[in-house]
Amino acid sequence: MTERIINHPVLGALTQKEKVTFTYDDHLFEGYKGESLAAALLAQGIRTLRLHEETGQPRGIYCNIGHCFECRVNVNGLEGGRACLTPLSDGMAVKSGQTLPTTVRDWRKNDEQ
Ligand code: FES
Repeated sequence: MTERIINHPVLGALTQKEKVTFTYDDHLFEGYKGESLAAALLAQGIRTLRLHEETGQPRGIYCNIGHCFECRVNVNGLEGGRACLTPLSDGMAVKSGQTLPTTVRDWRKNDEQ
């Protein structure tokens, strides 16, 4: 499944762009070199990019301009990459952000015991 604008009156035809492959949570996908990782994932119908650190609620693209940090993913082993600012390249290995403990949360758990 892909959800893309194939012919844009200003940006041109999508077929002019170079196709690349990447993985997201070990599933193989195809995208276009240089498009944002967020756009490539959205085109595949993927909207949940991570889970909130404390509540576990699904999070995804919010501002799409690099301000909110809601789109944090693991890119080639590095945590905290913003999908909306990361250009897609061939062979990129992306993992969704998982729920991480916070220092506040750990402190409360220890205090209750
Ligand atoms: S969606 Fe806001 S920083 Fe990426």
